[in-house]
Amino acid sequence: INVLLINGPNLNLLGTREPNIYGNNTLQDLINNLKKKSEKLNILLNHIQSNAEHILIEKIHSAKEDNIDYIIINPAAFTHTSIALRDALIATSIPFIEVHISNIYSRENFRSHSWFSDISQGVITGLGLEGYYWAKQYLKDV
Ligand code: DQA
Repeated sequence: INVLLINGPNLNLLGTREPNIYGNNTLQDLINNLKKKSEKLNILLNHIQSNAEHILIEKIHSAKEDNIDYIIINPAAFTHTSIALRDALIATSIPFIEVHISNIYSRENFRSHSWFSDISQGVITGLGLEGYYWAKQYLKDV
């Protein structure tokens, strides 16, 4: 199956950004590993990271034409702010899994509301980068 992984703002800084919360691995390492492991499960993993909301929205708009079957998304700070991204996901009606590296429920109060969780297939939060691997693992059987 064709999977689109979307990473939101500041996740390009993985490895140097608040390593006590987000760990020491870079986004590039994560994507390389995830792609390799996905291939073995017959999952073709496409990836986009952007700090710009409209770029993510447009990528979601074209996901249908790009034959994307499933989306894994870490909306990062847009989790707590972006009704526009939420609406884009509803508009494409492609099922998605929401992933967070940290546990959004054990941090500042403003992080405990997500505009995505109620419309997602499921949410993985607080398992570090492992969360992305579990999402991929789930998709091998859908
Ligand atoms: C995050 C959690 C968000 O609250 C934060 O704004 C992020 C990353 C996570 O993966 O833990 O940028 O989505």
